[in-house]
Amino acid sequence: MKLMAIVLAAGQGKRMKSKLYKVLHPVVGKPMVGHVVDTLQDIEVDQTLVIVGYGAEAVQAYLGERVAYALQKEQLGTGHAVLQAKEALGAEEGLTIVICGDTPLISAATLKSMIELHRQSGASATILTAKLDDPHGYGRIIRGEDGRVTRIVEQKDCNAEEAAVQEINTGTYIFNNRKLFHALASVTNQNVQNEYYLTDVIGILTAASDVVQGYCMANSAESIGVNDRVALAEAERLFKERINRQHMLNGVTIIDPSNTYIESGVTIGLDTVLLPGTILRGSTAIGDNCTIGPQSEIIDSTIHDEVTIKQSILQDAFVDDGASVGPFAYLRPGANIGKNVKIGDFVEIKNATLGEGTKVSHLSYVGDAMVGSNVNIGCGAITVNYDGFNKSLTEIGDDAFVGSNVNLIAPVKIGKGAYVVAGSTITHAVDDGDLAIARERQSNKPGYADKIKARMKAKKNSKQ
Ligand code: UD1
Ligand code: CA
Repeated sequence: MKLMAIVLAAGQGKRMKSKLYKVLHPVVGKPMVGHVVDTLQDIEVDQTLVIVGYGAEAVQAYLGERVAYALQKEQLGTGHAVLQAKEALGAEEGLTIVICGDTPLISAATLKSMIELHRQSGASATILTAKLDDPHGYGRIIRGEDGRVTRIVEQKDCNAEEAAVQEINTGTYIFNNRKLFHALASVTNQNVQNEYYLTDVIGILTAASDVVQGYCMANSAESIGVNDRVALAEAERLFKERINRQHMLNGVTIIDPSNTYIESGVTIGLDTVLLPGTILRGSTAIGDNCTIGPQSEIIDSTIHDEVTIKQSILQDAFVDDGASVGPFAYLRPGANIGKNVKIGDFVEIKNATLGEGTKVSHLSYVGDAMVGSNVNIGCGAITVNYDGFNKSLTEIGDDAFVGSNVNLIAPVKIGKGAYVVAGSTITHAVDDGDLAIARERQSNKPGYADKIKARMKAKKNSKQ
């Protein structure tokens, strides 16, 4: 039987108090509606239709062509939103999941169980419910004496008895598609909010003797609907816990999970240890046996095995096996760090390749450079890659030694095994095996320090 899905994503999300449309607010780095659509993709829905309205262009630009869209011009309620799918789906035979774009934690496993139960029972609709200690704000599931669901009452329409019910509507349902659209035709806006509630479909179905059942999710943490920033932070926390737990079960040591932030697209290998304050974002991939942190942020970067990264920031960087980075290093886009390279404290690398075993141990900037293997770049040495107009390349051959506080004025090439004396400002190529010194020759004046001090003192006294 055909399985369809309708995602409700047209609301403004007034309670977010934001210029960003609600369903585009990210949770663990991914817009909420992205989580929902990914989950539907995981359970292999045949056709997904997203209802857009507020911020339609932005939502469509984000989701692209992997789903179809229907426009809800005016936001008259969730029932009215689903009605906008009538043209595309109304005539179809099959099952339709309706899910909100602001419930990012609902998992594929939960949806699968709900569908399974629905298929077995032959009900007209199954509601995904949750039992909450504090159900405030959600629609309540009202069951009859026989335990069957009879209707859903919105928070604002609840009397005291209904408000005390702890079983809530998660906003996710599976319907017999034809019955859904048939019942929707009878929904009115006679309620406190003057909206066309999708939830009224349930009462309409049961009044027509259709069977509606509730499927209560096992883990109520999945139920959260994000209406404001308080719920957004809660969703972030719950999702973070889920992701961290999964990595731990997969063999990653996380010393302080409450203080470790891993976005959903990140992969981490076996026996890697994450120290407190580690933030792993985007498409970052980390290998086996690494130690990351404390206090490090890694964005869209690839780290191979046995790497150590301390108190550092990496973005669009690559770090090969056995390298160590930090403390306090900054690897910017195009940093390509070879095997067993050492990047030490206060070192910045941008658009530069460093060969195996090279060391940049302290206080350096290496930008727009090709550096060979086993090169030593001394403390404070920098590539001068920018003249205010153009960026130029520095090339350093294998086994070269660049002394402390050297300026390499690019474009410039240092040959293999060459030796650049500390304090030099290099403007011309240095050939393989040559030594370059480019600094003022030192001259000493014997006893002059004492003389000059005596003269200064005399000057000071004569002024007083
Ligand atoms: C809704 C449910 C409530 C449930 C809760 C679960 C209704 C009437 N209420 O309430 O029973 O407990 O979700 O989180 O359905 N939307 C549209 N068009 C509209 C209005 C809303 O597309 O005209 C979309 C919103 O973008 C949002 C979703 O529908 O993604 C839910 O709307 P929202 O206003 O957040 O409903 P709740 O008050 O949370
Ligand atoms: Ca909501």
